This record gives sequence, structure tokens and C-alpha cells, in this order.
Amino acid sequence: MRVVVIGTGHVGLLTAASLATIGHDVVGVDSDEEKINALRQGTCPFFEPGLQDLIERTGKTGRLTFEVEPAEALKGADVVFICVGTPARASGEASLLALELAARSIAPALTGPVVVVEKSTVPAGTADRLWHVLRSERPDLMDEIEVVSNPEFLREGQGVEDALHPGRILVGARSPLGFETMRRLFEPLIRDGSRLIETDMPTAELAKHACNAFLALKISYANALARLCERAGADVKAVVDVMGSDPRIGRAFLDAGLGYGGFCFPKDLQAFERLAAQLGYDFPLLRQVARINDEAVQAAFDKIKDALWNLEDKRIALLGLSFKPDTDDVRFSPALALARRLLEEGATVVGYDPRAGANAKSELPGLEVASSVDDAMEGSHCMVVCTDWDEFRSLDLRRARELLARPIIVDGRNLFEPTEMRAEGFIYYGTGRGSYSSAP
Ligand code: UGA
Repeated sequence: MRVVVIGTGHVGLLTAASLATIGHDVVGVDSDEEKINALRQGTCPFFEPGLQDLIERTGKTGRLTFEVEPAEALKGADVVFICVGTPARASGEASLLALELAARSIAPALTGPVVVVEKSTVPAGTADRLWHVLRSERPDLMDEIEVVSNPEFLREGQGVEDALHPGRILVGARSPLGFETMRRLFEPLIRDGSRLIETDMPTAELAKHACNAFLALKISYANALARLCERAGADVKAVVDVMGSDPRIGRAFLDAGLGYGGFCFPKDLQAFERLAAQLGYDFPLLRQVARINDEAVQAAFDKIKDALWNLEDKRIALLGLSFKPDTDDVRFSPALALARRLLEEGATVVGYDPRAGANAKSELPGLEVASSVDDAMEGSHCMVVCTDWDEFRSLDLRRARELLARPIIVDGRNLFEPTEMRAEGFIYYGTGRGSYSSAP
């Protein structure tokens, strides 16, 4: 099928490259000429494991090409994905302006029959709005333009796997043209075992919000339990293992730590709460989830203060700056939220990340960025694990003891075992792993 993808961010590029991989002819479109030129050379503008390879391979076979100007590609396209950003407005509500502008800009070049796909996490009713925009722009194609909602469930860092082997594909549509086109488009994935779930459009849109909010809720539940465990002298890891052994609950997304970040959960949760309010339903649970998430960073900060007392003359090493491992994305990263708090208190903060150092530095210029774990640790009074990159699991503990000015570790991702760390001579603060007391 002939596919056009408008927007080459995380979602757009993964969508374009995966659809080209399963045999469609895909054109990725972006108004950023520099980005398009780089993509034409096979260069991915951000780090996502496996994506660069996919872009190169599909580029070589000619299945994936890139354009700044979409008019030519839109002529005769079967499917057009809109993968533009929906950033938060000051109120927390999602701004849907880019979606409307994208729909208006593609409308003149469309030829029917064509299905326009809305991919973002958006309020229920958005696909319907787009449908009206397209129809008003192209009354001549009234019955030949359909809009469907196909929310993505891509995780950064595992995006290629999620795009090529999605556990589920959610399609919200209203007409046979919408459903049939999407079945045809995803047929290779469905044949390969992905489950297709078909609903109406508002249901698909609401379901995406419901999924992200529920995952965030699980994380905050674990973090609230961590606060309780610290007070009760219990171990949150064991508590969530017990919970997870019940299949009705499940173990996933119950890792307590510095909390969730990224460009999805924090903003989607706020937008969902705003949407609920606009629909006349107060959903305070969502506000509590966000509050507990903010508390997680504060809890790590309190431990650092507990260990170091005054921060003005202290150097603090942060291991991990991205919002999660296997990405260079630092948007709403809990590591940077913690760094900001520490800098405000006058500490010197030095961070190391396998991939996200440069992005972190441009987001937070006051942060020193080290080029290795050793450089970050050397002379630091405390080391804080902020992101659970695999590299940190195999930390050389003896070397860490030698390099640190004081052997203090605040483990914001529970990478290490408290008893082992104490046996190694560290003053160790886990997250929710028994009570902690003031360092000597
Ligand atoms: C999330 C969803 O998982 C995807 O399904 C969804 O498509 C995507 O948002 C989106 O809406 O675009 P992502 O933001 O890439 O994906 O990251 P997750 O893997 O969900 O992790 C989110 C955050 O939660 C990270 O900061 C991670 O460190 C944190 N987390 C995760 C925890 O603190 N504890 C856990 O147990 C799990």
C-alpha cells in the first residue's frame, strides 16, 4: 500500500520504518529540511536501538523515502498517518493545533479513497474533529476520506520491537473503508500474531489514555508503598513481588524508584485529567498519581540531604540522565528534576549517561556532564543512581569506593542489594528498602 507519514519524531519514524519493513511503500514527511536531508542519508535524528538500521535497510530497497513537500506523495496515497506533536498547553490540556494544521495542509493534495490515521494520545472526539476538518476542506471527496484512530503503544528504547511485533493493534473507526484499510495495512503483523482490536473512534482514543494513566498509577502505587516501607522497615521489592505473583495484579510497572518521566506519562496524565474535567467528571485519582510521582524525586533529595547535611560544598554524581534506559530522551526526566533541586541548594552536580549527556547539558546548562562513570564518581560525596541503564548494574564496587570522596550511594532505581552494599562498606540508601537512618 502507499503510505505517507506526516511528522518524523519517535512515533512517525517508527511507524514509517516498520510499515516499510513489512512491505509498504512509505514516504516520511517533515518540514524540517535538515532532518529530512539527514534521514535521506540514513541518519536517525535520535537514539532508538535498531531504528537506524531499519531506516537504512528500507531506504536501500526504496520502500522508505523522505520528503519536505508531501503533495506528490499524497496523490494516490492509500493511508496518511498524522504523527505530529500534541504538547501540553499551560492548563495541562493537550494542544491539538498541530493536528488541525497537518490535516488542513494535506487536504488539498488528497485523492480518494484515502484513510487518514490519527496516532497520538488525544481526547476522545479528536479523530471526529479531523474528519470534519478534512470534509470541509475537500467536500468533493466527502465519501472517500475516512479518519481512523490508531493509538500507538510504542515504548522508547523498545520502539522497534513494539512496532514490528505489537502485542495489540488498536483501531477505532466508523466505516468499512476505515476498518478494511487498516486490516489490509497491518495484515503481515496480524498474521504474525498481533491481536487486532477494533472499536469506535472515541473508545480507541479513551483506551489509549486509560492505558498510560493506569501504568502511571501502578508506578505511583509502588512509590507510595516505598514511602510506607521506609517507615515500616519493610522491603518494597519483596512487597511488589508478592503482589505480582497474583496474575490479577501482575508484576510489571511496579518498580519503585525516582518515578516516571518522558514525554508521554507526565503530559498524558495531566491531559487526561483535563479531559475528564471538561467532560464534567472530577478524577482526583489522577492528580494523586502525579503528586506521588513528584514525591519520589523529593524522597531521593531528602536522602541525599540526610546523608550529606549541607549541600553547598558537596559534589554529587548522578548515574543516568535520560528518563529511562536505552534512550537519549531527557524530556521530563526525573534525573534532571533531581539535578535541578540539588543545584538550587548549591550543590555541584555531575551527571553521566551512556547516551543522553549532550541532551541533558542543553536542557540544564548548570549540570556538569562527565564522560564516564569513573569521572562522575571521582571526588563526589555521594552517588545517585537515577536511571537503570544496564551499564550501572556491573559497577566495579571497589573502584567506586576508591573514587568517591565518601562511600554514599542513593539508589533511585533499586539496582543494588542493601545488605551487599553495606557489606562492601557503603552507606546505602535504597528506595523503599527498609528504614534508613542518618549517616555518621
Ligand atoms: C509509554 C508507554 O509504556 C507506551 O505504551 C506508550 O505508547 C508511550 O508511553 C506513549 O504514550 O507514547 P515510554 O514513555 O516510552 O512509553 O516509557 P515506559 O517504558 O512506559 O516508562 C515510563 C517511565 O516510567 C520511565 O521513566 C520509567 O523509568 C518509569 N517506570 C516504569 C518506573 O518508574 N517503574 C516501572 O515499574 C516502570
